[in-house]
Amino acid sequence: MTEEIVKSALSKVMYPGFTKDIVTFGFVNSIVINANDVSFNVDITSSAPEVAQQITDDAKAELKAVGAANISCQINAPKMPKESSSKGKNIAPQVKNFLMVSSGKGGVGKSTTSVNIAIALAAQGKKVGLLDADIYGPNIPRMMGIADIKPEVNGNKVLPIKAYGIEVMSMGSLMESGQSLIWRGAMIMKAIEQFLRDILWSELDVLVIDMPPGTGDAQLTLAQSVPVTVGLTVTTPQGVSLDDSRRSLDMFRKLHIPIAGIIENMSGFIAPDTGVEYDIFGKGTTQPMADEFETKIIAEIPIESSIRVGGDEGKPITFVNPTSESAKRYHAAAASIWTMIEDINANGGVDNQAVQPTTPPGVSACSTPKPQAAPAPKSDESCGTGCGCH
Ligand SMILES: Nc1ncnc2c1ncn2[C@@H]1O[C@H](COP(=O)(O)OP(=O)(O)OP(=O)(O)O)[C@@H](O)[C@H]1O
Ligand SMILES: [Mg+2]
Repeated sequence: MTEEIVKSALSKVMYPGFTKDIVTFGFVNSIVINANDVSFNVDITSSAPEVAQQITDDAKAELKAVGAANISCQINAPKMPKESSSKGKNIAPQVKNFLMVSSGKGGVGKSTTSVNIAIALAAQGKKVGLLDADIYGPNIPRMMGIADIKPEVNGNKVLPIKAYGIEVMSMGSLMESGQSLIWRGAMIMKAIEQFLRDILWSELDVLVIDMPPGTGDAQLTLAQSVPVTVGLTVTTPQGVSLDDSRRSLDMFRKLHIPIAGIIENMSGFIAPDTGVEYDIFGKGTTQPMADEFETKIIAEIPIESSIRVGGDEGKPITFVNPTSESAKRYHAAAASIWTMIEDINANGGVDNQAVQPTTPPGVSACSTPKPQAAPAPKSDESCGTGCGCH
């Protein structure tokens, strides 16, 4: 056994969630060889235990394949951050990290992505919540198989519903099915704030937030109410969707939300009978946009009938068929998002101070004249103007 053989075997071990191997990343060091026994260290940047486990398993398999006998792989990982290091206004302080799932266009697969990423993060050992902030068209209850379940109310707080190991809340769970509500801007802001303040979320590692399409009141209120750790943009490969996705990415920039990446959904088609993948909408169209915003495509999710069926029947593919190609891609995307969340916290976290409403010194935005009929807000609740002063 030589160092060259060991390095060449270890260069087949990909860093989970990336297309680069652990040798190229420069993570492997202190290789000691004694006949066919090999020991080495791998310094990784993620504290997630499953990352260490996967690297150990893959490295042992690759080394055994080239004839190594006793293998000792020491993984050095940073400590899991106890708390988020984010600053600024946070009306849901028991939640350590917030992941905002957005798109410029409707119907591109935000809710499907939110559900599957949330389940993948939970399967990777995180304590996860899923908030359906799409108050116009709440689809999460159906997709999570909880459409008929009403949440428990505790005083003036509401308990999230548990499904697939995660905590869930949606406007759809609070209103009668099929009911439609007409929302004015101020009501949307109020609803988003209540979802964060009046739902009894546990101490969560991450709250995944499925946004309505576009860049409007809901997005701004969310960013002002909690320090959003990372944003994820969902797009489809067609030009018209990409135009709108640029707006979504630009919004993250303007709100000072770090971009965790882009998910290209409906990227190709996997035939259910043969498993063969076909390019339908055109591939490679999203990459220039990722480059423009200095981010990356963290998954290409094909059109698969089992994803649609899973959504309609409340059986998400990541849970019911975790070994399918699409589930594996959702898992890799979730691992990549978590690595970024850890990196952000290790580097001081995010701060939403800069996106709070600006008012002249000494003047509260709440002193803005309000229509006579509007009741004055109670001291502990927002005036509903998104002023951020409560
Ligand atoms: N990769 C996929 N393969 C097959 N069907 C998919 C895929 N992604 C999403 N769908 C289906 O497309 C439809 C729209 O997806 P989804 O509701 O997640 O989009 P959305 O962006 O949340 O929409 P909206 O803007 O209305 O909230 C759903 O029926 C969903 O099951
Ligand atoms: Mg949706």
